[in-house]
Amino acid sequence: MKVLVTGATGNTGRHVVSGLLDQNVDVRVLVRDPANAPGGEVVRGDIIDPAEAAEGVDAVYFVWPFYSAAGIDKAVKPFKDKKIVYVSSAAAEDGGFWAEVEEAVRNVTDDWTFLRITGLATNTLGWVPQAKTGKVRAPYGQAKRSLVHEKDVAEMAIKAFTGDHRKQIYLVTGPEALTQAEQVEIIGKALGTPVKWEEQPEQEATEQLGEEFAKSALPYWASLVDDPEPVSLDVATVTGHPARSFEDWARERFS
Ligand SMILES: NC(=O)c1ccc[n+]([C@@H]2O[C@H](COP(=O)([O-])OP(=O)(O)OC[C@H]3O[C@@H](n4cnc5c(N)ncnc54)[C@H](OP(=O)(O)O)[C@@H]3O)[C@@H](O)[C@H]2O)c1
Repeated sequence: MKVLVTGATGNTGRHVVSGLLDQNVDVRVLVRDPANAPGGEVVRGDIIDPAEAAEGVDAVYFVWPFYSAAGIDKAVKPFKDKKIVYVSSAAAEDGGFWAEVEEAVRNVTDDWTFLRITGLATNTLGWVPQAKTGKVRAPYGQAKRSLVHEKDVAEMAIKAFTGDHRKQIYLVTGPEALTQAEQVEIIGKALGTPVKWEEQPEQEATEQLGEEFAKSALPYWASLVDDPEPVSLDVATVTGHPARSFEDWARERFS
């Protein structure tokens, strides 16, 4: 089997590459800058037009790093009838562009697996410069998220490539839902310095995040105060071990 890994320089993709290489799977990576390739056979290109990279591979780790489905049909066409493991979002459940991308994948192959992530632990890396000063000022400290370790996402993908997970939709989460204030506290412990959460008003957050992103992110985080992100057992079921905790993630990153 030969697997094309897109997003190979990213948080999850780099672990997919190393995990597949460890299992002696033939790996090709699609990268925009070959200097950053993490290993495998390198093809330079863009995910919006992956025809050259797709030639001769049997399967693809597919990321679509955009907030719109525009151009998706052209991007998935070269993977017709191949195995596609798509890194989707729990938000696909509610429609929107995530669901459109899943639909486009279903339209080109029956051999698909969707890894629907609630949120990656790496999303919190943006707080780290502030955390080092002892406080993080951000919106919705009481929003509860089930952030997942990027290595668990990669392990799920490797299981999907090496076993039969055809037409499976997995909800990929961490082992518990933690408030954002708790996440910051855990990051502080790993950094070895106490860090406090400071609630940021919506208006200020919108200016910082940009109108477009804030428009969808702020109402979502607000909803998580009373209605936490779900916690799924899919990582444990598929990988055979419990999902890694946010505490372990932070310790690995910062200690
Ligand atoms: N973060 C979350 O909480 C979350 C939740 C649900 C789903 N997801 C999905 O998970 C995917 C993977 O996340 P991740 O954290 O592993 O990735 P990441 O660290 O955000 O990196 C994005 C990857 O996509 C590549 N890329 C960006 N634009 C590209 C283009 N036009 N052509 C080819 N490659 C391009 C980047 O390569 P370069 O080195 O060239 O920049 C990089 O390898 C995301 O794209 C997102 O769709 C994320």
